[in-house]
Amino acid sequence: MMKYFDTHAHYHDSRFEDDVHEVLSALPDKGVLRCVCPGVDVATSEQEIALAEKYHFLYAAAGIHPHEAGEADEASFEQIEELLRHPKVVAVGEIGLDYHYDFSPRDVQQQVLRRQLEIARKHNLPVIIHDREAHEDCFNIVSEYPDVLGVFHCYSGSWEHAKRILNLGWYISFTGTITFKNARRVLETVRNMPADRIMVETDAPYMTPVPHRGKRNDSSYVSFICDKVAELRGITPEEAAELTLQNGNRFFGLE
Ligand code: NI
Repeated sequence: MMKYFDTHAHYHDSRFEDDVHEVLSALPDKGVLRCVCPGVDVATSEQEIALAEKYHFLYAAAGIHPHEAGEADEASFEQIEELLRHPKVVAVGEIGLDYHYDFSPRDVQQQVLRRQLEIARKHNLPVIIHDREAHEDCFNIVSEYPDVLGVFHCYSGSWEHAKRILNLGWYISFTGTITFKNARRVLETVRNMPADRIMVETDAPYMTPVPHRGKRNDSSYVSFICDKVAELRGITPEEAAELTLQNGNRFFGLE
């Protein structure tokens, strides 16, 4: 059986509240070897950590999402730092900028992103970046922290922009959006990516890949994303699974 690393899923989400343990306990038999679960604020980061304590294959990330940036204060940054000391927390995330929804004022989003990049640098942890319609600001801000390693998650952008991210030494991660019928521009990015910088993720419960699009997503569907990566790059599904597993392990510092 193939072994997959789903580098981004949210099991704190309310869409899992009725059956999260059923879903999670079934994943190892479906080939999910590892999964990283980012919170979006202090409370949800704590929820992901509690799940990671119960399931050996789960890891957590702690951070404040741009949607929640308006609620962040000094106490919440201190709480996030405290959570980073937990042995199953492997990254700061998810953090970033979202100019599509603009749920928090942009200057506040930027300030909260910078603050958490400083925290990541201090704790020597990688970051998981959410960038929606904020490419220039996001890129410029992360560039201010050359000693921080990160991944742009759920990437759907151009190869031109991807090259700038790769030049920072960073990684890029792809979701089920690469399986969508209307996907165009991002496919070129998947094809051109250096083999050692590509990761896959479900972003469950969102972004469900074809052929399950429209249903709730979970980490077992990471196989469809890997298969698409294989098809686009002209490698076998086994090679795509192995490649993305190795990259995930290296990025998150796991053996
Ligand atoms: Ni996410």
